[in-house]
Amino acid sequence: MASRSLATSVGGLALRSPLIAASGTVGSVWEWAEVADVRPYGAAVAKSVAPEAWQGRPAPRLAPTTTGMLNAVGIQNPGITNWVDAMEPRIPKLRVPVWGSAVAGVADGFALVAEGLVSAGVTAVEVNLSCPNLEDGEMFSFTADRSRDVITAVSEAVDVPVGAKLSPNTPDIVGVAGACRDAGAAFVVLTNTAFGFGLSVSDRRPLLSGGVGGYSGPGLKPLSLRCVYEVAREFPDLGIVGCGGISTGADVVEYLIAGASAVELGTVHLAEPKAGIRITKELVELMARLGAESVVDLVGTVETW
Ligand SMILES: Cc1cc2nc3c(=O)[nH]c(=O)nc-3n(C[C@H](O)[C@H](O)[C@H](O)COP(=O)(O)O)c2cc1C
Repeated sequence: MASRSLATSVGGLALRSPLIAASGTVGSVWEWAEVADVRPYGAAVAKSVAPEAWQGRPAPRLAPTTTGMLNAVGIQNPGITNWVDAMEPRIPKLRVPVWGSAVAGVADGFALVAEGLVSAGVTAVEVNLSCPNLEDGEMFSFTADRSRDVITAVSEAVDVPVGAKLSPNTPDIVGVAGACRDAGAAFVVLTNTAFGFGLSVSDRRPLLSGGVGGYSGPGLKPLSLRCVYEVAREFPDLGIVGCGGISTGADVVEYLIAGASAVELGTVHLAEPKAGIRITKELVELMARLGAESVVDLVGTVETW
């Protein structure tokens, strides 16, 4: 089989592969790197970090569903100061570029975290806008103004590419993506988990202690893919990382054709930490069948009826 180029780039960042490990599903990267082969990945995103430490929500906070899973882990994290102390010596030894992920309740908090992430050696900062703001508890990514404020603050604070990670529940995903782009985001990550709920018939309790949680896994793919398709059509110059329900090489190709230049793998890692090896093989085989020499040849090639 002729060699196929997996190299791609997003938001000005060169990646050796379009596969990226998604935040929250590979710990702080180094734990996962001890059991998985990181070579098939272009980057790996560490669990989101906040200005202060947080224990996360009480158990149960993970629950399987027939087509994926629900989680309400909350942003369990050690706080940015402890995170930097732990990660700074580790990041240069990892054989994969590490991206950081910032969360906070206010725009300045995101900027503070982003500065810490960069000081520890991350090559990009994902801004997790799928978290509640302090004022009224609504997700930042639900409004263009709030998203713009956060991305502006982070872009002014750091000199690495900044990505905005949006919720699929965002009412106007195209408008919010555009606001993030105008505020300095080099790329958007589409998407985070969708709101989901499950219950147990026997005790009539929600499956998660937090009640409503985040739904991820195969059933999320059409929702996230819709976001990629619509944002790519409106902003062909904006870097897009697709994320949601990817577990096969064919899933990756769908996201590329819809307009993503790279993709993140999340839930698949929980059952299969080494999924990147299998998915790369499937991706290369499918590229051969499609006659695609390079990943970039596929990006945004969706046809109209
Ligand atoms: C257990 C768990 C924890 C997660 N934690 C985070 C997080 O800290 N920050 C974040 O941006 N996304 C987090 N996510 C969302 C994933 O990064 C990803 O966007 C989502 O799961 C959709 O992709 P998937 O269907 O491939 O899992 C988490 C997902 C899961 C399942």
